[in-house]
Amino acid sequence: MKVVAFNSSPMMGKGSTALILKPFLEGMEKAGAEVQLFYTKKLDIRPCQGDFHCWTRHPGECFQTDDMAEVLSSLREADVWVLATPLFVDGMSGPMKTLLDRMIPLIVPAVEMVENHSRHPRREGTKGGKLVLVSNCGFWEMDNFDPLLVHMEAVCKNVDREFAGALLRPHGPALGVMEKNGLPVGDVFAAAEKAGRELVLEGKMSRETLQTVSRELVPRDLYVQNLNERFDASIAKWAERRK
Ligand SMILES: Cc1cc2nc3c(=O)[nH]c(=O)nc-3n(C[C@H](O)[C@H](O)[C@H](O)COP(=O)(O)O)c2cc1C
Repeated sequence: MKVVAFNSSPMMGKGSTALILKPFLEGMEKAGAEVQLFYTKKLDIRPCQGDFHCWTRHPGECFQTDDMAEVLSSLREADVWVLATPLFVDGMSGPMKTLLDRMIPLIVPAVEMVENHSRHPRREGTKGGKLVLVSNCGFWEMDNFDPLLVHMEAVCKNVDREFAGALLRPHGPALGVMEKNGLPVGDVFAAAEKAGRELVLEGKMSRETLQTVSRELVPRDLYVQNLNERFDASIAKWAERRK
């Protein structure tokens, strides 16, 4: 099984998105998958120019010469696409959206009806398969992911891929802080790894495993108080340095 993953956090491997993505990909590797990971920050992916060259003049190819050619070739061959993004202003980060916009060479312009809904079929040469979302957010509540989930499910319909579920980490920044302070969060990392193994070995991730990934880490009042204190301390530190 081939897996291609993208982490669109500007913090790359040091961010909270990576804290969940890393064990998830390790779980897939341990179960025998071949995993390729890209950081969008390291890629040169320019915005789609919207002229449909890749559908008409050169079907299946974008005229722009940047890193998207390599990314498209990995996407074509992968059984599983893992899209990992921090929640930015209620959705995916900009670089991830730019990458998705540049995916349209993988589908054909013809519109077909599936379940009474328009979509584009996959272009020949692109494997069908699954898509997994990995995300974390700063706010405490799980429902902050709702717009992103709706969007991802729509993307899957649009590009003819199966939505296999999401590893979601609300109050994500707490995870790293708690880990550093020796607080018991090992079950969250273990569940992320288990989700990876389940996906490869059983073709799906169990609800229980995903719930553990998203479980409450700290009561909301305490989290909000702590977050506000951290920002206040940081603002004060920088104000002092500017003096
Ligand atoms: C520009 C920006 C927009 C954000 N918007 C939201 C948001 O709408 N909702 C939310 O819960 N968190 C939001 N956050 C917080 C991030 O999701 C949070 O800090 C996350 O842990 C970052 O993950 P990372 O360390 O992998 O980059 C935002 C952060 C930034 C920098």
